[in-house]
Amino acid sequence: MKILEFDCLDSTNRYLMDLAKDGEEAGTAVWAHRQTGGRGRLGRSFSSPEGGIYISILVPLTDPSKSNINITAMAGVAVMRTIKQVCGKNCGIKWVNDIIYNDRKVCGILAQACGDKAVIGIGINYRTEISEFPEDVRQIACSLYAREEKAPDEKTFVSKMIGNLWSLITTPEDNSWLADYKGSSTIVGNKVLILKAGAVTGEGLATEIDDSCRLHVVDEDGNETVLSTGEVSIRKTDD
Ligand code: BTN
Repeated sequence: MKILEFDCLDSTNRYLMDLAKDGEEAGTAVWAHRQTGGRGRLGRSFSSPEGGIYISILVPLTDPSKSNINITAMAGVAVMRTIKQVCGKNCGIKWVNDIIYNDRKVCGILAQACGDKAVIGIGINYRTEISEFPEDVRQIACSLYAREEKAPDEKTFVSKMIGNLWSLITTPEDNSWLADYKGSSTIVGNKVLILKAGAVTGEGLATEIDDSCRLHVVDEDGNETVLSTGEVSIRKTDD
């Protein structure tokens, strides 16, 4: 793997997409310690202060049956496994791809296709000062470690994470990630709201994640909605 490391970039996904368009080979990763224009899912921004790990990895899309959602889910499992292996901490995955630690978001993932490759962008709040996030993010985010806490070396974490992801992507016969993905869901079994552009478009019980990583939601009348993209949130009991 080739890792290009920067103190600050606007967005590691933007940077690597540009390299990919200019013919960069799969296997290249771009790592920044801060981002000024971090990109999130659904057209949102991703707040990226110092202390976080912001990394994008260019991977091959060799198997057309592996849709964007599967690639994203694999990345979620790779991050979750790395946090367990390197930090000894247990996380869950909020469909599609938010990594949850202590009921709060600790990592977001954005996969973007680029021809026969994909850029997988991963943003982890590693030793992030929560006060450095904007107010709305502070309500939902957490960091794996406090700034002053002793934490495992970031280089060790990054190389382990890239290795975990690369081996999942390039070993199509290894389906073990799927059981981990399903088994770590923080959503299945809960009543959820289905959101589109921030607005509620439906609700029901999240019953399962299928083998294509789609989320099944069944409403009060038994009607099933199968989601392959978008966003859900757990319905609070007083909603
Ligand atoms: C989300 O939660 O909406 C996805 C966030 C993805 C953020 C990462 S940080 C590294 C890479 N570069 C970006 O601009 N975005 C991704």
